[in-house]
Amino acid sequence: LAQIDVDLSPIQVGQSITVTWRGKPVFIRRRTEEEIAAAASVNLAELRDPAPDSARVQQPQWLVMVGICTHLGCVPLGQKSTDPKGDYGGWFCPCHGSHYDTAGRIRRGPAPLNLALPEYAFLTDTSIRVG
Ligand code: FES
Repeated sequence: LAQIDVDLSPIQVGQSITVTWRGKPVFIRRRTEEEIAAAASVNLAELRDPAPDSARVQQPQWLVMVGICTHLGCVPLGQKSTDPKGDYGGWFCPCHGSHYDTAGRIRRGPAPLNLALPEYAFLTDTSIRVG
């Protein structure tokens, strides 16, 4: 489907879901206050693909990203509560060891870029349209 509507209301703080959009996994995470604070406090000069957290989200609580590692295209771990999240508390790609932070920015490992952001818009406070 070119566009999909996603109901965010069942997602609790600290939970993530994965939806499929144009054949790709899209990660939607309702971030905790700690994750938001960690993402916002990073020195941009340390980043390989510099982007402030505010440029990665429309609303701080909701992080929406394409769940495909920018190295060679594996799907990073971190969506399940039991998954390894890497050294920066976000996502970890086990294929070659890329670590992404709580804004999905690449922090360590071979991936060159942050996890991509799909086009999306809030339809209501608790629903989005991706695409
Ligand atoms: Fe993710 Fe290589 S595909 S680190």
